[in-house]
Amino acid sequence: MKSRLVLGCLTTEGVVARARDEFDAVIADGKDDMSGTELVAAANAHQAAALLFTTTTRLDGAAIAALPASVRVAATVSVGYDHIDIAAARARGLIVTNTPDVLTDCTADHTMLMILAACRRGYEYEKIMREGWRRRIGQGELLGRRVSGKRLGIFGMGRIGRAVAARARGFGMEVLYHSRNRLPAELEAGARYVPTFEAMLPECDILTLHAPAGAATDRIVNARTLALLPPGAVFVNVSRGGLVDEDALFDALQSGRLFAAGLDVFRAEPDFDLRFAKLQNVFLTPHIASATQETRDGMGFRALDNAALVLSGQAPRDPLWR
Ligand code: DGY
Repeated sequence: MKSRLVLGCLTTEGVVARARDEFDAVIADGKDDMSGTELVAAANAHQAAALLFTTTTRLDGAAIAALPASVRVAATVSVGYDHIDIAAARARGLIVTNTPDVLTDCTADHTMLMILAACRRGYEYEKIMREGWRRRIGQGELLGRRVSGKRLGIFGMGRIGRAVAARARGFGMEVLYHSRNRLPAELEAGARYVPTFEAMLPECDILTLHAPAGAATDRIVNARTLALLPPGAVFVNVSRGGLVDEDALFDALQSGRLFAAGLDVFRAEPDFDLRFAKLQNVFLTPHIASATQETRDGMGFRALDNAALVLSGQAPRDPLWR
């Protein structure tokens, strides 16, 4: 008999097909991912053994307490897990898994897109074209910033941070980083470690965030830390909006203290702060750094694999703790 799984997020045809094939699957059929309340309700209604969902579904302590005893594994289709109350999950004996590795390349590619678009005025050029162009642009007008030769500061040198570093080297950038721990030389691959976030900032022509959200990083980018960046620096965030004080970021962009930003993530999603949409020097995307066919298939398959392993009594591939 197949195990019952609630697929609480809208996902690719391939993932839906595999979920139907391998599980007794209850599939989200609305226009949106299930909320935490909807996921819990579906788990109870169907006495599910496994839950698949993504960052849009908040599984807080109350939601975890309301899950039926039948649920053994919560497999998030994401590498981040700040939408899950991990302490509550552990206390309940719920196994939680995520999907590392499979999204590293696409997320790093998207980071480069953001770096390039912010430095090279991607939004403004695109806007001019869609408005019809029709006017020569002088040699001294609408100039961007060259990326080669620039210092890229990476906050969070995990898998994604390192993949960004590898790409940045290809663009002739100098890479420095700050992470909780210094990496061994083979993983640093020439990147220079700076022992504190604050000490790194004055050296960053471009700052990119690749650290998880949480108490230690909440609003780590704020008026005080933004002021430590060199005037005219570029800021990129493809990690989580929670790392940023958005009022301070808006002020720094509007005043021109920052040259530009590339933002894929926001404190509130999808109802992001619309002031950013009014700024010409911001390149915006809707939290889609991993959104390629290949990667979204890979993430969903990895989550299904994790659920299947737990339900067959084996250790999952990507447990959040052991
Ligand atoms: C992740 O995997 O954490 C992404 O941000 C989700 O889209």
